[in-house]
Amino acid sequence: MISDDKATNRGVAPVTYGTGNRPPRGDYSAAGADYTSTQDWAAYTPEEHALYRRLYERQAAQLPGLACAEFIEAVKHLGEPDQIPNFEALTEVLYKTSKWQIVTVPGLIPEEAFFSLLAQRKFPVTAWLRRPEEFDYIVEPDVFHDLFGHVPLLFNPMFADYMQQYGQGGLKATKLDKCEHLARLYWYTVEFGLINTADGVRAYGSGILSSAGELRHSVTSPEPLRLRFDLKRIMRTKYVIDRYQPTYFVIDSFEHLIESTDPDFTPIYDEVSKGSSIEAGVSLPTDQKL
Ligand code: PHE
Ligand code: FE
Repeated sequence: MISDDKATNRGVAPVTYGTGNRPPRGDYSAAGADYTSTQDWAAYTPEEHALYRRLYERQAAQLPGLACAEFIEAVKHLGEPDQIPNFEALTEVLYKTSKWQIVTVPGLIPEEAFFSLLAQRKFPVTAWLRRPEEFDYIVEPDVFHDLFGHVPLLFNPMFADYMQQYGQGGLKATKLDKCEHLARLYWYTVEFGLINTADGVRAYGSGILSSAGELRHSVTSPEPLRLRFDLKRIMRTKYVIDRYQPTYFVIDSFEHLIESTDPDFTPIYDEVSKGSSIEAGVSLPTDQKL
């Protein structure tokens, strides 16, 4: 998950997570200059493996009819959910398929480090798993969100390329000081994107796919706005991080997403910067509702 203002706030006292010899949550001291560290797979406890399996099984059971076919196809690559995957072993399969690698991080990392990893086709996955009392909801991304939500579509050739292009675009946006606009694109595609299919709208965003409640809500509830993907509109739209999204954007296909984000964003950022921001949940007369 990309960091946003609230989530990168490190003023919060670190939570001590005393299971086995796992480091406390958000312990950045073991990370290198690129913020990557090691998974220390042997340190997960049997309870953590069991919790991961429960999360996986609950989510896998609700994929049919709600997740896009590409995700359902790709989730098989994660293997049997009997334990938290070993990133090294999973990387071996992933690299052969799409030239992506999984790297370990202690938690959210600064934007530039994140973009740089994506540009190198390295996806940062948080090592620690949520606590049992966070079964339904977690504020920061953990290993379940990062692995189950993000890694399957990295096996999809088109989505794999989109993620790398996003990383390259991020490095450029950093120089142009336009990360806020680009972060909204990530949020409304990679994290909370919906896709239109012959069978109806389905989810491809990791934040939806790893959420017990939002998966069904985003696809079936009459409440949220579902708008056709519109790059400039997305770049102007704020998002919320503490409740279900009031607005989702729907792509026609992964080709549609790649084509729409292919143009040079420099003039687009300039144009978008001139307009005002739009609150999540607010619709405009020009919106194409689905
Ligand atoms: N076309 C974008 C740019 O010029 C790069 C990009 C591609 C960004 C895909 C995000 C997603 O900055
Ligand atoms: Fe994420």
